Amino acid sequence: MADRLKGKVAIVTGGGSGIGEAICKKFAREGASVVVAGFPEDPVEDVAKEIEKEGGKVLSFTADLSTEDNAKRCVETAVSQFGKLDILINNAGVFPEVNLLQDYSEEAFDYMIKNNVNTAFVMSKAALPELHKTKGNIVSAGSEAGVIGIAQNTPYGGTKGFIHSFMRGLAVEQAQFGVRCNIVGPGPIDTAWTHDSTGPMDSKMVKTMKQATPMGRRGTPEEVANVYLFLASDEASYVTGATYMVDGGITLAKGPVGEEADSDMKKEPKGELELEHSKDGHTSIRK
Ligand SMILES: NC(=O)c1ccc[n+]([C@@H]2O[C@H](COP(=O)([O-])OP(=O)(O)OC[C@H]3O[C@@H](n4cnc5c(N)ncnc54)[C@H](O)[C@@H]3O)[C@@H](O)[C@H]2O)c1
Repeated sequence: MADRLKGKVAIVTGGGSGIGEAICKKFAREGASVVVAGFPEDPVEDVAKEIEKEGGKVLSFTADLSTEDNAKRCVETAVSQFGKLDILINNAGVFPEVNLLQDYSEEAFDYMIKNNVNTAFVMSKAALPELHKTKGNIVSAGSEAGVIGIAQNTPYGGTKGFIHSFMRGLAVEQAQFGVRCNIVGPGPIDTAWTHDSTGPMDSKMVKTMKQATPMGRRGTPEEVANVYLFLASDEASYVTGATYMVDGGITLAKGPVGEEADSDMKKEPKGELELEHSKDGHTSIRK
């Protein structure tokens, strides 16, 4: 284990699967005590057990984190078990539908508002009093879709646009309390969301997505977790209000540039973490 987060206490929402699993495992390896938080049916307990096996300090918390009561309970649990809170990672999110707006279901729209927007709002609000005490920080999951807008993903992009402006405003507002606030903007990442077999994209979209990415491939959850680690650590002590895109260049690119990518660049790095739940994420509406 390294010690870039030694002595820190972190809550990671959506910590049971996909990018969240990688963040939890990375943070624990770097010395943080981690609260793996997610829906009751998410494999949060499993992630917590694997971290424990490696000697990490961890606890799991399951609830719908989009309500103020549950968000407060999550923060209280972290503080009562680990004594304080230094880092909130607002990673929880959902991606239930890809469609033209005229066909987009109101149910999926409401579902994204609840889980992508409300969750970040209530969790940040509940965490701030504790983060003031520790001069901690928040890092939230934005998206390339929230920066540029993406066809057939317009409501999803809108919820992520909220995260981008919300976090920038928070950065300005909360500096007076010593709290930093930043955004990680993943591009196409190798989780359930970006495979036609597990998510709402069809095979044509998946192909186009890779072609449109200068690096010619998806990013790994661990490649995203590495950037969360930097922003959450004291190494980023002068970074607030920033958006770090982890997107293989897709936000800037035009056309099928991925086909020209260097062959080594196109290979997903193996990474250090053993990830068991990268494809166990949330891709349909939870009943
Ligand atoms: N995968 C990508 O390509 C991609 C691209 C851009 C942004 N992102 C962002 O990264 C984050 C993680 O995405 P992922 O691909 O790892 O997906 P994922 O489905 O594997 O992880 C998201 C987790 O959040 C949990 N969650 C959602 N709402 C919740 C709530 N109200 N309460 C508790 N848990 C809740 C889900 O159950 C799931 O475990 C999301 O915020 C997403 O918007 C992902």
